[in-house]
Amino acid sequence: MSPRTHVRRFIAFEGIEGSGKTTQIQLLSNRLEDLGIDHLLTREPGGTPIGDQIRGLVLDARNTAMTPICELLLYAAARAQHIEQVIRPAIDAGRLVLCDRFKDATMAYQGYGRGIRHDLIDALHGLETLALQPDLTFLFDIETRVALDRARSRDTTKAPQLTRFEQEDLTFHERVRSGYLEMAGQEPGRFVVIDARGSVEDVRHRVGEAIDRFLATRGAPE
Ligand code: TMP
Repeated sequence: MSPRTHVRRFIAFEGIEGSGKTTQIQLLSNRLEDLGIDHLLTREPGGTPIGDQIRGLVLDARNTAMTPICELLLYAAARAQHIEQVIRPAIDAGRLVLCDRFKDATMAYQGYGRGIRHDLIDALHGLETLALQPDLTFLFDIETRVALDRARSRDTTKAPQLTRFEQEDLTFHERVRSGYLEMAGQEPGRFVVIDARGSVEDVRHRVGEAIDRFLATRGAPE
C-alpha cells in the first residue's frame, strides 16, 4: 500500500534576536489552537532531548573557544535529530508544523555572520536527512539596533545570562540581518518578510493575514 500523501504545511519563523518571532509563533499557535487546527510547535536548536542538550552547548556564553565549524556541525546535528524524530513524522501525519528557526538560520548566522563558505553549508544540507525546506518562511525584519536593545532588555529572571550570540557586536547581527534579507530576495515564493516594527498586536495582525492567505491556498489540516 502506498503511503497517503498530504499537502505539506511546514512553516519556519526567522529573524535576528529581538525581532519578536518567538512571541509571534506562540501567538499564532494559540490562535490555531482556538480555531481547533491541529499543529506542532517546535524550535531549533532543540525540539528533541538531544537537540536541547546541543542548544545548551551552542548558546552557553562560557563556550568562547567554540570554532565556527564546530558550531555549524552542532546546529546541523541538532537539526538532523529534529527532522528525523519530530518534523518528518509530523509532516507525514499531515500536521501543520511551526518551527522557531530552521535551516535559513544556519546560512544567516554561520554563513553570513561567521563567514563560513555558503557552498559548504549548502552541501551539508544536501545530506538526505537535512534536505528539507519549509513551505513558508516568515522573516521578521527590524532595524538591528532596535532588535538588540529589545533582546538585551528581556526579563533577566528567565534568562539571566546573555547567550553567545547576544554577546556578539552590532556588525555581526547586521551581517545576519542583511543575509536573511538577501535570501528572502532570492526566494520570494517561500519567504514572507514581516515588518517587525510596531506593537505586538500590529505584528500579529500582519502574520495573521499572511497565514490566512497560505491556508487559503493549501487548506487547513483535516
Ligand atoms: P533563538 O534565539 O531563536 O532561540 O535561537 C538561538 C540562537 O541560535 C540564536 O542566536 C540564533 C542561533 N542559531 C544559529 O546560529 N544557527 C542555527 O542554525 C540556528 C537554528 C540558530
